Amino acid sequence: MVRAAVLHGVGEAIRVEEIELPAPGPGQVRVRIAAAGVCHSDLSLADGTLDQAFPVVLGHEGSGTVAAVGEGVTHVSPGDPVLLIWAPPCGACWFCEHGEPHLCAKAMDASRVPYARLGDGTEVLPGLGTAAFAEETVVPAAGVVPLPPGAALEEAALLGCAVTTGTGAVWNTAQVPPGASVAVIGLGGVGLSAVQGARVAGATVIVAVDPDEGKRKLAVEMGATDALEPGADLGKRVRALTGGRGVDHAFECVGRSATIRAAWGLTRRGGMTTVVGVGGKDDKVEFSALELFHFARTLTGCVYGSTDPARDVPRLVAYVRDGRVDLGALVTARIGLDGIDEAFAAMRRGQGARSLVIP
Ligand code: APR
Ligand code: ZN
Ligand code: ZN
Repeated sequence: MVRAAVLHGVGEAIRVEEIELPAPGPGQVRVRIAAAGVCHSDLSLADGTLDQAFPVVLGHEGSGTVAAVGEGVTHVSPGDPVLLIWAPPCGACWFCEHGEPHLCAKAMDASRVPYARLGDGTEVLPGLGTAAFAEETVVPAAGVVPLPPGAALEEAALLGCAVTTGTGAVWNTAQVPPGASVAVIGLGGVGLSAVQGARVAGATVIVAVDPDEGKRKLAVEMGATDALEPGADLGKRVRALTGGRGVDHAFECVGRSATIRAAWGLTRRGGMTTVVGVGGKDDKVEFSALELFHFARTLTGCVYGSTDPARDVPRLVAYVRDGRVDLGALVTARIGLDGIDEAFAAMRRGQGARSLVIP
């Protein structure tokens, strides 16, 4: 039995319960969780914005130590420090074979299969196939990437989603070149990571936008050249910083049609907007057919920062080690499994960057 934060339905309070976690089967790994970040996607799964069946153990941004490996698992052994990957590429589908492992057709398979039982025998689902809001979890072997010894294990959890997604949006999806101008809308764990990614990419103008003053301050510490409050004249203020044109690249890190539309409006003629946020299925974005021609802009979706974990995790760990990417500054709270509802509430208010659950 292990303690886990179980959610029984939309809008319910999370209950910390003992769950029965089986030994890892063939091709699975059991991981003792060191830390798990609270991501906005967890809140969206909990509040019904994104579809989720219940009961579920959420948490998809985790790090830990291998407790046991199932038959056939050779890339990690008990005791190894590891990062959890919530969309593990299968390596064999059309997308994986065509260099787009972040779009793997099988990446979400584990999220649909119960992985443990409650005390009364009810089957529980693993949130995004990961279930990191628990003392231990069991995941597919491909969802476990070894971390080099010496990596700060708790903070490394942030590499599981926010940092990989935010930096990957800049480096992999948009491929921002040195000297570019960039706007980042929404400065949670994901947006602040996009700011850091833009700085590392060599962007010379990095405009960070968020209603929360604390977040704007953090963004400046992480490399933003300008920090602005959203508002009706945002486009005007951004054009004033970019020779009257608008930015080359905008990153929407909120997940709402209004902010997608605002991000799009900040780009120059020929500019590109990368939508990193995950919004609801009925939240529609509008633009006119004529403006598409006139501005010749690009709008693109982005899944998991277009990451290939095998390539990107070692690169990110190296950047963390040499100080180019700061994980510690993203962590604004350390909480227990019983603090997740409060972390969700703070997230709804837009307060705090990342809360790290230490189970
Ligand atoms: N303009 C700019 N920023 C805004 C606005 C707005 N109109 N409204 C809210 N925000 C800010 C919030 O203040 C907050 O700082 O957006 C930020 C969102 O951050 P988090 O809630 O911490 O979300 P995060 O975990 O970073 O995820 C961002 O990416 O992966 C997806 O599902 C995730 O859609 C979510 C997005
Ligand atoms: Zn996430
Ligand atoms: Zn695949």
